[in-house]
Amino acid sequence: MLSTLATDKKKYINRRLPECDSLGGRGRASAGLSPDLAGGIDGPLGNDALRLSVSDLSHSYGAKQVIGDISFEIPAGEIVALLGPSGCGKTTVLRAIAGLISPRSGVIRLGSTDLSQIPANARRIGVVFQSFALFPHFTVKQNIAYPLACQRVPRRDRSGRVEELVGLLRLEGLVDRLPRELSGGQQQRVAVGRALAANPSLLLLDEPFGALDRGLRQDLQVELLKLQRSLGITTLIITHDQEEAQTLASRLVLMNDGRVEQIGSPCEIYDAPASLFANQFIGHSSQIAATVVDNRDTESVLRLSTGEQLVLPGKLDFPTGDHVVLTVRPEHVRLHSRMLQGRLKVISIVTLPLGPTLTHNIILSDGTELKASEPRRSAEFHRSQDLPTFVELDLRRCKVFAKR
Ligand SMILES: Nc1ncnc2c1ncn2[C@@H]1O[C@H](COP(=O)(O)OP(=O)(O)O)[C@@H](O)[C@H]1O
Ligand SMILES: [Mg+2]
Repeated sequence: MLSTLATDKKKYINRRLPECDSLGGRGRASAGLSPDLAGGIDGPLGNDALRLSVSDLSHSYGAKQVIGDISFEIPAGEIVALLGPSGCGKTTVLRAIAGLISPRSGVIRLGSTDLSQIPANARRIGVVFQSFALFPHFTVKQNIAYPLACQRVPRRDRSGRVEELVGLLRLEGLVDRLPRELSGGQQQRVAVGRALAANPSLLLLDEPFGALDRGLRQDLQVELLKLQRSLGITTLIITHDQEEAQTLASRLVLMNDGRVEQIGSPCEIYDAPASLFANQFIGHSSQIAATVVDNRDTESVLRLSTGEQLVLPGKLDFPTGDHVVLTVRPEHVRLHSRMLQGRLKVISIVTLPLGPTLTHNIILSDGTELKASEPRRSAEFHRSQDLPTFVELDLRRCKVFAKR
């Protein structure tokens, strides 16, 4: 059946699909999957052969440069998230790695192999697109088997591999359905199965949960993580959702406007953001406009837009007179009912009990908005008449950035 399907499929692809989501696979014995069905890159592959390294990658569409000097690495078997707002160039990076575009400059290596020398269909990369891009007239089984059919894997071996993936992805009982007869989550699993069918060296996922609702997304994120760990496949996941990135990846490559803004673990970026953008993108933080009025080795003084002054520990990187932005995370703001030095006056506060956390939406005297959060200790939340009217910022944890 697949041989005729392969012919039909070629026609279908030519008409409807600009790209195939499985760009070849490398034979590799890994937990849950049988070794090399599809042949592989010549010679045995050690661990280092599965490290992805992207160096100084740049690309333009026409005259417009959309990514510049993108560099990052994914150690063998790890999962890294490429994170950033819509339009910042994430998919362009993925397309360059997959070989779907030729970047203007830069080097992409898998181990010591320069991928620019290898056509897309021989790169042995599995890709899952946001839209899943399943073949609508193919069943689940046919969709998953498609890359194997492309590679002329003997039919006998194909069905064994498809069965393994069907089991791994919990698609039993659905194998003869068409994509339209599946839920979004099931379609997503089929897309992952198809990307893994040819035993790729690298898995690229472009916003793979974007089309799914929140609860389902979280379940599938956990499933994907388990699968990735059990297969030990080097994986790049693209997302604009910082929570998703932090759930899935131990390392984030944070992009903004075509550039890498910061690379680090979610905690590193959260605790030590390299820029105001990184500070705002990972976790929540409030901003208060300020001017540097004193800056010494031991302490510095900021005059806030409210007119109040704060003394920060240590020296700032800004000269006296500079306009800056002070940022503070909600968990670093404490509420008080009494005025003491260093506390800021509050003119209004709205408190929301969000599950185990109380979130306070605060307005300072000049209208600046500030969020505070604290664990809700009592079983009940009582709206008190006796509202706190001052806030204290944990000044050791606040950050100061240049005003944009
Ligand atoms: N084929 C294309 N031709 C021209 N511009 C494009 C093309 N693809 C993407 N772009 C532009 O390049 C920028 C980056 O796009 P993309 O890589 O898709 O970003 P992201 O995936 O982060 O949303 C955007 O401004 C987008 O409009
Ligand atoms: Mg994109």
